[in-house]
Amino acid sequence: MISLFNFLKKKELNLKEIKKELGKEFILYKRLKRKLNQENIKLNKKNISIFNPGSEADIISPLLVLDACVDLKEEHNILLCFVDLKDLDIVIRERIKKTILNSSPKLNIKENYTDIRFKLKNSDITIRYIKKDALRFIDKMDCFDIYFERAFDIIRSDDKEYPQKILKKTNHIIFSDKPIANDTIIRKSGFKKIKLSKNLKNIGFYKEFSVLTRITT
Ligand SMILES: C[S@@+](CC[C@H](N)C(=O)[O-])C[C@H]1O[C@@H](n2cnc3c(N)ncnc32)[C@H](O)[C@@H]1O
Repeated sequence: MISLFNFLKKKELNLKEIKKELGKEFILYKRLKRKLNQENIKLNKKNISIFNPGSEADIISPLLVLDACVDLKEEHNILLCFVDLKDLDIVIRERIKKTILNSSPKLNIKENYTDIRFKLKNSDITIRYIKKDALRFIDKMDCFDIYFERAFDIIRSDDKEYPQKILKKTNHIIFSDKPIANDTIIRKSGFKKIKLSKNLKNIGFYKEFSVLTRITT
């Protein structure tokens, strides 16, 4: 019989599995969390949205980045919007099972998207999987709090207007493993670049990891 305690138990990231997959990069996310704490970069909103284009089925890096800038022990409602061209909802569910839950979360299949919901620490997480071209879909999106991309530069590099759209639609933080614009454009768009150590720049595929935060007055 499943005990009530097990049923109510808050889920944590399966660090053993994550460390196995990320190898040495895992330690960098821990350092990133420390760095963001030092810089006082913490999102305290109840409802937080994240846009992750070209997500594939990588749930680990967006969740680690989220864990670095949001206190998941608080009760947040977090919507991670994953957009990719492939059929990935079932693959994503299996990845969640392996790295977080040890059981399969339910898929809530709607006409244009699939929601996969689970609890992480005390936060409610919804991964909304949308099978679309992210370069076009961005035009239909409302603003989001966090932008996260990994290994997406090659795809977005042909669309010269895409970086401006991201700078306009991101409310708080932009994480990318290749800078999305030069320093002048970043500043003019109301963002500042967080100075990262050489080590931290190694996060991601292109090893040019960058964190931009919106300047508030
Ligand atoms: C190199 S993979 C990166 C996957 C993941 N972000 C990671 O770091 O492991 C690039 C992904 O972008 C997707 N992709 C390519 N063009 C796209 C587009 N226009 N819109 C959304 N996704 C796209 C591909 O299907 C692929 O899953």
